[in-house]
Amino acid sequence: MEKSLSQIFLFLTTFLLLQILFRRSHASEYTRHPPRPVILTPHKGPDSDPQQVHISLAGKDHMRVSWITADKQVESIVDYGKEPGKYEASATGEHTSYHYFFYSSGKIHHVTIGPLDASTTYYYRCGGSGTEFNLRTPPSTFPIEFVVAGDLGQTEWTNSTLAHVNARDYDVLLLPGDLSYADTNQPLWDSFGRLVEPHASRRPWMVTEGNHEVEIFPIVYPRGFKAYNARWLMPYQDSGSKSNLYYSFDVVGTHIVMLGSYADFDANSDQYKWLEAELAKVDRSKTPWIVVILHAPWYNSNSAHRGEGESMRKAMEEMLYKARVDLVFAGHVHAYERFTRVYNNGADPCGPIYMTIGDGGNREGLAMTFENPSPSISLFREPSFGHGRLRMHNHTHAHWSWHRNNDSDSVVGDEVWLESLSSVTACKETFEGPASSASESSASESSASESSASESSASEKDEL
Ligand SMILES: [Fe+2]
Repeated sequence: MEKSLSQIFLFLTTFLLLQILFRRSHASEYTRHPPRPVILTPHKGPDSDPQQVHISLAGKDHMRVSWITADKQVESIVDYGKEPGKYEASATGEHTSYHYFFYSSGKIHHVTIGPLDASTTYYYRCGGSGTEFNLRTPPSTFPIEFVVAGDLGQTEWTNSTLAHVNARDYDVLLLPGDLSYADTNQPLWDSFGRLVEPHASRRPWMVTEGNHEVEIFPIVYPRGFKAYNARWLMPYQDSGSKSNLYYSFDVVGTHIVMLGSYADFDANSDQYKWLEAELAKVDRSKTPWIVVILHAPWYNSNSAHRGEGESMRKAMEEMLYKARVDLVFAGHVHAYERFTRVYNNGADPCGPIYMTIGDGGNREGLAMTFENPSPSISLFREPSFGHGRLRMHNHTHAHWSWHRNNDSDSVVGDEVWLESLSSVTACKETFEGPASSASESSASESSASESSASESSASEKDEL
């Protein structure tokens, strides 16, 4: 009897130990999923039905509604109001279309509505009849929450990312390039528009271009961007830009600069001159946060696309540094990576935090290989599909979180509290070269100052 009891005890102990070891081995190693195939989203209604509806911010208190109809007779009209089915206002806009070899687009409508009240749900319909959509305008004061998701494509992973994005409310989505992965196959632009409509018709989607938007064909289409510019019209004229490929806008204390990795950026270029003038105009008392979005990362320790953003970095980094830009988001590399505050390849307490968030879910899969060992300025990196959230709590503090797609769950893989450089006394002084303390400051010190802010709670920060 005594012997059998000791055998049972031994068996149970061994079983428990094996369970602990099994769970530990699985907790420490996340199983990365392979790429998934492209999914096509067809249009099932009549030709006059609006499809591919998406909205974007279009100047103070205004929103642009964009959609496409196969029927060219449909008018570019949006009816809207604060109650379902009751449209007390109406706006008429413009339309365009384009050809790409044998492909002819539908009628692409762009209608600006407003002035609109802040934090308000509006119900609207496109073209004078048919389906009712709804949107919510951003708030007029802090807090505001941005979703950042790059390199989306149109796969089951894209759907997974968008489902996770939609599971928690947000105000504005920022997309650092590579939307449809149509790559000259124009019907894929239509399919992408239909895939994202349930999301992009409800919250403003602000985009900039990636390499998959270029679509240059020598001699025939030497300037490229035919589909992108026609379909994803952004408010570039409002910020004095001459091109839809780069622009800026303000929303709730945040000045957002969308740069064009695939537009000229050298010192003689229009984009460079525009950026110089545009950063000089920023009033940090009104917009204490400056966020820059571009496609090809300036800092990247992944082996994918190494050095592709280097010439743009050399041309423009000093301008961003002098302007005390808080954050720079890039896509292109299909992984997540967060750097410390950086200037000229070194940690600098007055430089922007650089992040790569090109893990939206495209057909090309993940960029699995990182430089080893990790450079000291890179604080977190992981090749998993997901999206990011940037919540501006007030004029000094924001919270960043990166959410990994994990089948049915969205898992917070990384998070950090951020302090605006506009509130850091040492960084407010006139620029005379790299911040004097920069070379002495290590990445870990910078990280420590960020994490010290994390000791207070979100609600405390809302009151700061
Ligand atoms: Fe890309």
